Amino acid sequence: MNVFSSIADVRAARASMTGTLGFVPTMGFLHEGHLSLVRRAKAECDAAAVSIFINPTQFVAGEDLDRYPRALERDLALLREAGVAFVFTPQAQDMYPPGFATSIDVGPVAFPLEGASRPGHFSGVATVVTKLFNIVQPTKAFFGQKDAQQCAVIRRLVTDLNMPLDVIICDTVRNESGLALSSRNAYLDEDERHRASLLHAALQTAKEYVGKGERNAETVRRTMRDMFAREPDFIVDYISIADPISLAELDRIENEALVSLAVRVGTTRLIDNMLVRT
Ligand code: PAJ
Repeated sequence: MNVFSSIADVRAARASMTGTLGFVPTMGFLHEGHLSLVRRAKAECDAAAVSIFINPTQFVAGEDLDRYPRALERDLALLREAGVAFVFTPQAQDMYPPGFATSIDVGPVAFPLEGASRPGHFSGVATVVTKLFNIVQPTKAFFGQKDAQQCAVIRRLVTDLNMPLDVIICDTVRNESGLALSSRNAYLDEDERHRASLLHAALQTAKEYVGKGERNAETVRRTMRDMFAREPDFIVDYISIADPISLAELDRIENEALVSLAVRVGTTRLIDNMLVRT
């Protein structure tokens, strides 16, 4: 497995590769969620590549950029074991050299939910992902449903800018209590981690309500919100039932809906979501 920090080295390696390349962009501190994407990339393509880059431009002022967890040697060992062809670990000064000025705005799909709570976040994501695609030139790129709005943003970006690659969305990997794996779970203490399974329980409840025939989105939102009353130190940022493509909030649930939520558990902000069908 090659580890490249220079953009030129990635370009040279890519130019010498024949066959399809599956790409998994990450910010590192890898867990089974990331590794499930890597395995899918390996299964669907001739070779797999991963990037590890804590992208400063997608962190909003006051967020956890400085304390974002890192474990590069461990990550590289996991990726070597997974059979990845190369890992790209760029430096921020090479991705954003002096004079860097371009940013990508994907429009309304980035406005609500995470976009409303984290202004500028998706512009940072769309810009870095475009740069990574241009550098790595993958055949397919793999993203996790865990970050549902990020998936919607990337799909919009790739479609609108005619990027020559397929976007593959992979299922959310959870622990035994239902908590979606996340690098940020490292911030939770044991008690918080245990209680954070309430996010998944609320999503499950929404799914059950819709399964039993509830079509009024506000009734489902209210039911989910009420569940958080039993954890008064959890601060609900949003509970949303939206169209899965446009992310516009729904009044009535017809066909498919994206149920998503963001909750502050202590100092940690957790997100999760579930697609529900009528
Ligand atoms: P990061 O949070 O490291 O996530 C990298 C990829 O792993 C994303 O596509 C994310 O959705 C996926 N992922 C995270 N947790 C998952 C889980 N429990 N199950 C399945 N997939 C999961 O997302 C980013 O990095 C960045 O925004 C990035 C796209 C790399 C741009 O900087």
